[in-house]
Amino acid sequence: MTAPRPTIRPCTLADIPAVHALLTETWHATYDGWLGVERVNEIAATWHSHSQLAAQVGRPDSAFLLGEVDGRLGGTAFAHAANGSIEIGRLYVLPAHQRHRLGTALLRAVIDAFPDAGAFQLDVEPRNDTALAFYRRHGFAIIGAGTDSGGTGSGISHLRLEWAPSRAFDEPGTGSSTT
Ligand SMILES: CC(C)(COP(=O)(O)OP(=O)(O)OC[C@H]1O[C@@H](n2cnc3c(N)ncnc32)[C@H](O)[C@@H]1OP(=O)(O)O)[C@@H](O)C(=O)NCCC(=O)NCCS
Repeated sequence: MTAPRPTIRPCTLADIPAVHALLTETWHATYDGWLGVERVNEIAATWHSHSQLAAQVGRPDSAFLLGEVDGRLGGTAFAHAANGSIEIGRLYVLPAHQRHRLGTALLRAVIDAFPDAGAFQLDVEPRNDTALAFYRRHGFAIIGAGTDSGGTGSGISHLRLEWAPSRAFDEPGTGSSTT
């Protein structure tokens, strides 16, 4: 059966509690096994606190997007201009909505929000095979590695990935791509 087409829209302050809940659930499902429940709780209370998320709403040179399916929040993405490229700081889809192209729709919308960008970069936990498969599917390439994902001293290992508009953005299911 074909999944309903998602709606992508900007995040507002009224959405912040729902975004916090989405990030908390998705982070626990994704990272508890690698980082531990306590560390993920800490991140939910700091990086994903209501005040931190609210500060990103309407921030200049950024895109804070929500993906809804049948009117219900299913995913979120945040990207901002940093050091000459676009940093995709978050792209999260609730476990129940994964593998139905919501991540693809959010990534496409992030890219479309920065039509003049020369490159898009992000960090992926090296053991996160799902995210690596997803980004590789869309033409991202590994350009480096480190141990400070999300900020200096976080201690979280990461691979650094990049996509440039000169590379194909492969749209699963459509057989099409943009160059
Ligand atoms: C990674 C994530 C954003 C992908 O979003 P999604 O909506 O589930 O992915 P899509 O349905 O758009 O997948 C597009 C393509 O990516 C690849 N892909 C996605 N999930 C995959 C998986 N679990 N295993 C292998 N390939 C996968 C496939 O090629 C897929 O196309 P296909 O279904 O036609 O085979 C989502 O799974 C997620 O939020 N995961 C947990 C949090 C996370 O890791 N976020 C990224 C942090 S860097």
